[in-house]
Amino acid sequence: MSVRNKRLVVAVTGGSGLIYAKDLLESLQALDIETHLVVSAGAKQVFPTELSGDLKSFEALADVVHKDANLGASIASGSFRALGMVIVPCSAGTLAKVAMGLTDNLVSRAAHVTLKERRPLILLLREAPYSRPMLKNMLESHDAGATILPLSPGFYNQPQTIQELVAGITSRTLDLLGIDNSLAPRWKENDDA
Ligand SMILES: Cc1cc2nc3c(=O)[nH]c(=O)nc-3n(C[C@H](O)[C@H](O)[C@H](O)COP(=O)(O)O)c2cc1C
Repeated sequence: MSVRNKRLVVAVTGGSGLIYAKDLLESLQALDIETHLVVSAGAKQVFPTELSGDLKSFEALADVVHKDANLGASIASGSFRALGMVIVPCSAGTLAKVAMGLTDNLVSRAAHVTLKERRPLILLLREAPYSRPMLKNMLESHDAGATILPLSPGFYNQPQTIQELVAGITSRTLDLLGIDNSLAPRWKENDDA
């Protein structure tokens, strides 16, 4: 596999749902995909309310950790080879930056670079309900090439645990990136045999 196809940028911003970010990082580690992680100041504020353990052990799930203030990081350049980028959870604030092309921190700069290089950018949004600005920003981001994946798990496979719910979202995220996985059951997959 080429370097490009084995590397992913993962950004964690200050939406609720850090459990999804943890599950994605653990799954990518198991799949041997190299991860470049950025955790925003907003995410660091949400962290203690949602995840047990410390930030250091969370960051240790990634191969490389970049500071959100470091606009000179490798992932701020289009020359960085990566399959794409996932923002999980993606806050309303970061969505707005992606929609407008604002690049004042590493998360928004790397997202902008991912779009300009025409690589997959997946925004796992978390807010409820959606405001009009958010709805507009979703459409702008979609039209610019991003995929909007709301953190709204499906129940059709009758998940029994929170982990099963979370795995459903991780599986769909990896599917969108073309990363083969069997992290969650697929609707009627075995009925076709
Ligand atoms: C406990 C907590 C939960 C939050 N949940 C959300 C959320 O679900 N969605 C959202 O858009 N913002 C949420 N916020 C607000 C963002 O963290 C805040 O707007 C932040 O500035 C976003 O910046 P960032 O995108 O750079 O992380 C939450 C804040 C806190 C403290």
